[in-house]
Amino acid sequence: MTLDTSAAILQRRAIRKYKPEQVPDDLLKEILAEARWAPSATNTQSTEVYVIQEGPLAKLKAELRQYAESEVEPKPDFPPAPGLPPALAARQQALFQARMSFIAEEEAKLGIKPADPPVSPMVAGAALFGAPTVLVLAFDRGVSDHYGCYDGGLFTMALCLAAESRGLGTCVTTSNVRYPDMLRKLLPGSENQKMLALIAIGYPDHEAPINRFPRTRIAVDEFVTFVR
Ligand SMILES: Cc1cc2nc3c(=O)[nH]c(=O)nc-3n(C[C@H](O)[C@H](O)[C@H](O)COP(=O)(O)O)c2cc1C
Repeated sequence: MTLDTSAAILQRRAIRKYKPEQVPDDLLKEILAEARWAPSATNTQSTEVYVIQEGPLAKLKAELRQYAESEVEPKPDFPPAPGLPPALAARQQALFQARMSFIAEEEAKLGIKPADPPVSPMVAGAALFGAPTVLVLAFDRGVSDHYGCYDGGLFTMALCLAAESRGLGTCVTTSNVRYPDMLRKLLPGSENQKMLALIAIGYPDHEAPINRFPRTRIAVDEFVTFVR
């Protein structure tokens, strides 16, 4: 059964724990075939997708873990701005706080003790949420960042909704493309591409606290200005 658009938009959330079952190739291809109908600047369809599974996925996780543990300085293709505007920084903090306290409470109920010493978020992130498949999105260096990121963002949303509609979960990540040179070595034919995002995809573990914490959004009036 597929969902209507509004249901898919409202129901989708970032899934950060997956069941181990692999997503069948046919289903992945169906989702990717739907996502390619996302708009792109002058229909250039600049988004390239690498589907990573099995041995190469294990290698990617091992490399990410090694980089995280040795605290290698990240060199992303799209460096972050030095600081967020205060209102946005406050939203980010609210997310981290809500997520952390919900998980701590739920894990205490389940009798799960916090890791001692705590695992750094970067090392934990290297496990890629246990997803059996990850997609790396990239675009050619000849495409402007404006169009490449816009096209890739629209493709991403179409993909996430197509997945949601078929009972699959996704999590968009940019932290996992912070070492793009390592990805370019791993991904055939990617030498001349910029690494935009890594998207985990698989069957959600709906029981996991990390997939259940309450999320919020700002009110429409906070970001919409009618000008007339
Ligand atoms: C550009 C972008 C980068 C993101 N990077 C990460 C990431 O590195 N790690 C992660 O766990 N989630 C990442 N996310 C997921 C966001 O944290 C998530 O979409 C946001 O908190 C809203 O929650 P929701 O998707 O569950 O509605 C990213 C999302 C976007 C759009």
